[in-house]
Amino acid sequence: VLGMELAALVALTLLLGALVVLVALAVGKRKEEIREETETAGPASKKPKQEKQRIRKEKASQHTFSHPLLAAALKSHSGNVTCLDFSSNGKYLASCADDRTVRIWSTKDFLEREHKCLRANVELDHATLVRFSPDSRAFITWLANGDTIRIFKMMKKEDGTFSFKAAPEDFPQKHKATILNIGIAETGKFIMSASTDTNIHIWDLKGEILASINTNQMTNSYAAVSPCGRFVASCGFTPDVKVWEVCFGKGGEFKEVARAFDLKGHSAGVHAFAFSNDSHRMVTVSKDGTWKLWNTDVEYKKQQDPYLMKTVPCTSSEGSRVALSPDGRVVAISDGCNVAMYNTASGELEEELHSVHSQEISDLRFDINGRFLACSGDKAIRVFHNAPGYRAAIRDMQDMLKKAQNEGMKQRLQQQISEAQSTLDTVLAGPVEGKTPPPQRNWL
Ligand SMILES: *[C@@H]1O[C@H](CO)[C@@H](O)[C@H](O)[C@H]1NC(C)=O
Ligand SMILES: *[C@@H]1O[C@H](CO)[C@@H](O)[C@H](O)[C@H]1NC(C)=O
Repeated sequence: VLGMELAALVALTLLLGALVVLVALAVGKRKEEIREETETAGPASKKPKQEKQRIRKEKASQHTFSHPLLAAALKSHSGNVTCLDFSSNGKYLASCADDRTVRIWSTKDFLEREHKCLRANVELDHATLVRFSPDSRAFITWLANGDTIRIFKMMKKEDGTFSFKAAPEDFPQKHKATILNIGIAETGKFIMSASTDTNIHIWDLKGEILASINTNQMTNSYAAVSPCGRFVASCGFTPDVKVWEVCFGKGGEFKEVARAFDLKGHSAGVHAFAFSNDSHRMVTVSKDGTWKLWNTDVEYKKQQDPYLMKTVPCTSSEGSRVALSPDGRVVAISDGCNVAMYNTASGELEEELHSVHSQEISDLRFDINGRFLACSGDKAIRVFHNAPGYRAAIRDMQDMLKKAQNEGMKQRLQQQISEAQSTLDTVLAGPVEGKTPPPQRNWL
């Protein structure tokens, strides 16, 4: 009897032991869940001490970067960000990464402490490129695995946020080489896709090819649609940048892709180019060790050629990106992990931003008002105040003031100069606790 009792006791102990283990496991699991939740919660949430240490450790292993002109660091992606695009209504910045998401950020938030974003999932794939539609209510993506274009519609919900819906069908696969860029014309009339071989396809919005261009540049290194939506341009192994006009008839029907003009002047291949917002200026950056500013405000049909305005030495490399501020006053060029900002009128190097990202810069863009420069390279997006743009605008207004004849005009200019100067001073002073951010005037 005693033996049986003992056996029962042992069994009970074992059972209890197993229970304890199970309970411990369950509690452990719950802790894991809580840990994940606190991870995503805002900075105000209380974190256990261990948790704080862990986060501090992770932060230390991340790339840290600070600079007086840094306005914001947007950090929600868990993968490398490969592309950025500002919507033409000025409200949003879209970014995509290899974490299978596209994020939509509010530009209004840039100077706030927190940067909220909306997330669109790219099912069973990820987007490497993203571009807003002209009405800012849809975006197109390039699918890394699907090797084609997918359109997403943004539907406004009652609470003012969006839900995202992919079009029922992706575009057909047409490119055989690595994709370089995609774009939608601001006119809403066509979509462009370009690959590293010499192919550019022009599509209608339903995914039918309207025309294909052979750039004859050996290999393409960059291609883009102009912000006015009239032109498509490409550069590559050969030194000339080629520009085409995509022509439509009066009834909106597609007519042809016609050669418009070339930018001839570099002595080696061209890494990249950019347009000003009205397409009256272009900037190019080349392997020949220079960037060039061009006046492209020409009537090419009357045999007018674009002309070179400026050539400035700069460092660049394969994969360098270039951005031109909307007003054409500032050019930003990436070289590896660094960014340089130049005044286009004087050619002066005004800002050097070193090691902005831990990896090569993947994209570089000014916002539509020219207040900010955004760039990507690792998981973060960094947004800089366009101080060279503010300074250039002030200088231009000072020149106008010297020439101004009438008193009213002089007073208005003086007023604008002092406003611009105080905005620039506030920007340079950086955020002050409890102080409101600088007024966001559109005087640039
Ligand atoms: C980001 O890119 C780097 C370099 O290509 C790579 O080592 C890293 O694993 C990537 N990170 C993610 C999360 O994909
Ligand atoms: C270009 O940008 C400037 C400065 O932000 C703005 O004043 C102008 O209206 C823009 N032009 C076009 C065509 O968008």
